[in-house]
Amino acid sequence: MSELSSLNLKTHQVKTDSESLKHYGKDWTTYFDIKASAVVFPESTADVVAVVLWARKNKVGLVPSGGRTGLSGAACALNGEVIVSFEKMNRVLQFNEIDSTVEVEPGLITESLQEFAKSKNLLYPVDFAARGSAHIGGNIATNAGGIKVLRYGLTRDWVVGLEVVTGAGEILNLNNGLIKNATGLDLRHLFIGSEGTLGFVTKATIKLTSPPVEAKVLLFAIHQLSDIMKVFSEFKNNFQLQAFEMFSEKALGYVLKSTGLARPFETITDFYVVCEIENNYEKTEEKIMQVFENCLEKGWITDGVISQSDLQTKTFWRFREDITEALSSFTPYKNDISVSVSKVPDFVNDLDAIFKSAYPTWEVVWFGHIGDGNLHISILRPPGMTKEDFVTECRKVDRLVFGAVQKQLGSISAEHGVGLTKKSFLNYTRSQSEIELMRGIKKVFDPDLIMNPGKVF
Ligand code: MLT
Ligand code: ZN
Repeated sequence: MSELSSLNLKTHQVKTDSESLKHYGKDWTTYFDIKASAVVFPESTADVVAVVLWARKNKVGLVPSGGRTGLSGAACALNGEVIVSFEKMNRVLQFNEIDSTVEVEPGLITESLQEFAKSKNLLYPVDFAARGSAHIGGNIATNAGGIKVLRYGLTRDWVVGLEVVTGAGEILNLNNGLIKNATGLDLRHLFIGSEGTLGFVTKATIKLTSPPVEAKVLLFAIHQLSDIMKVFSEFKNNFQLQAFEMFSEKALGYVLKSTGLARPFETITDFYVVCEIENNYEKTEEKIMQVFENCLEKGWITDGVISQSDLQTKTFWRFREDITEALSSFTPYKNDISVSVSKVPDFVNDLDAIFKSAYPTWEVVWFGHIGDGNLHISILRPPGMTKEDFVTECRKVDRLVFGAVQKQLGSISAEHGVGLTKKSFLNYTRSQSEIELMRGIKKVFDPDLIMNPGKVF
């Protein structure tokens, strides 16, 4: 791209070779033809401003790029856009001991933030399987959730300040780390979850918290989907839960095959749950046994085990967290849907009926954060079917799935974002007025519509 030379970046901050364009031009989705013009690597807020002003002048689209672990295509460049990678802006800037906050650059890897918090005897509690690659900037852009949401909430709940560069090239400092700030619209929250459509996050101030007391980690075997939420209610009513994650036998089967881990129980059941319980009382384990036996007697749980070591805890979590990797060779079609927790039982019944009739012979793999109402349902591509035909078929069934989501006033994307994959379904759970308002807000921050064009709405 010839105009790039007018952008005053150093040679190592620009790449145009085809390997880099392919590498930086996509996220974990596999259904899009990537066509990027260049990748730029800003090293400061001033560099980001320069890139935005250059893009406005030359009418070039910009696509933000973090750890590229997204699952909605929001970080994919399809139309000759310039990718803006935050890989080189990855520093921890300032720790404030009294406020328990830390200011970081957007390219900091989530796990590095978690480790930094640990080094200060604190906790950054947003956690998910892609923690080792995902960037905090990407977490903010998608309002990342993960496995501890039912205890600690979403990324949004931990961002107390943002420095952003808007699509107009203006620098805004939003909220400055304040706990209380009753001065009109909180623009910070517009940027969180905006999937790069309004501007770039160039600095974030993140709140940290006290580390939890040690947790008891349990694995349950459960025969029926409809019993999972009964078990959830029993445990939630008696304990402070940190996580309640489900997966199906099919998911476990693929994890065992790809990892070589041993099967956790002698008998096979259709579903399993990993449950983390805060060990708040002296007699927590005794109480856990009582609640567990009650669930056994009622026939909701068929087997269960409490972890006795760090290694066993890690293994329980690998059963759940290694699913995405274990399924990846099937290029699964992913649903990431949510309803209020109270509506999960009716919702799973409706979904089960839809999947059984729509895909009688295809493999449908259930897992997810059922304790916060979020299910991931992956359809595996049948051998020999082209990606295009597969996506076309799945999109037909999406209409039924999203109809069921709509009926329960849920969301067609709980935590992966809308990006490209869910854009045409947005109207199932956001009204036309809302979508028009979102477009209007975009224009205010991004007058030339250069920020992640064609994504979300
Ligand atoms: C997960 O919960 O493991 C992630 O959201 C990834 C996925 O859905 O594949
Ligand atoms: Zn998830």
